[in-house]
Amino acid sequence: MTLYEQLGGTPEINKIVTLFYQNVVADPLLAPLFPEDITPVMEKQGQFLTQFFGGPPLYTSVHGHPRMRARHLPFEITKGRADAWLSCMRRALEERVPDASLRESVLERLSHTAYFFINTEG
Ligand code: HEM
Repeated sequence: MTLYEQLGGTPEINKIVTLFYQNVVADPLLAPLFPEDITPVMEKQGQFLTQFFGGPPLYTSVHGHPRMRARHLPFEITKGRADAWLSCMRRALEERVPDASLRESVLERLSHTAYFFINTEG
């Protein structure tokens, strides 16, 4: 069973994403990177995580090849920001996903990607 199925599909992923960005815009390290209107970012993240976790390719069908590391290069991503990003996601998952081992699998998967996006020292 894919992480997508275990999480409950796109509707549940979108709920996690909404909570996640509430945490992001309240985080002093992350908030300055994001536009005032976070809604389009939320929508793209829901599409991306759907396919990243093994569901249908919603992001690619609308926006083309993700090239996610390249898309993040304009932003200074430090180890501290990657940790903050993962902490925002951990707290969102704790609110929506009761199964602790599922939460850990999701965070494990995301942490590889988050650390891979680090492009700035400090
Ligand atoms: C490591 C820490 C990370 C930081 C600081 C970060 C920051 C950002 C920022 C600033 C944007 C652009 C918002 C905008 O102006 O539109 C963005 C977009 C996005 N990020 Fe991240 N991000 C991080 C990690 C991740 C990870 C781990 C994923 C997925 C596994 C991810 C997925 C996305 C997606 C799907 C978008 C929208 C891309 C698009 O515009 O098409 N990010 N991120």
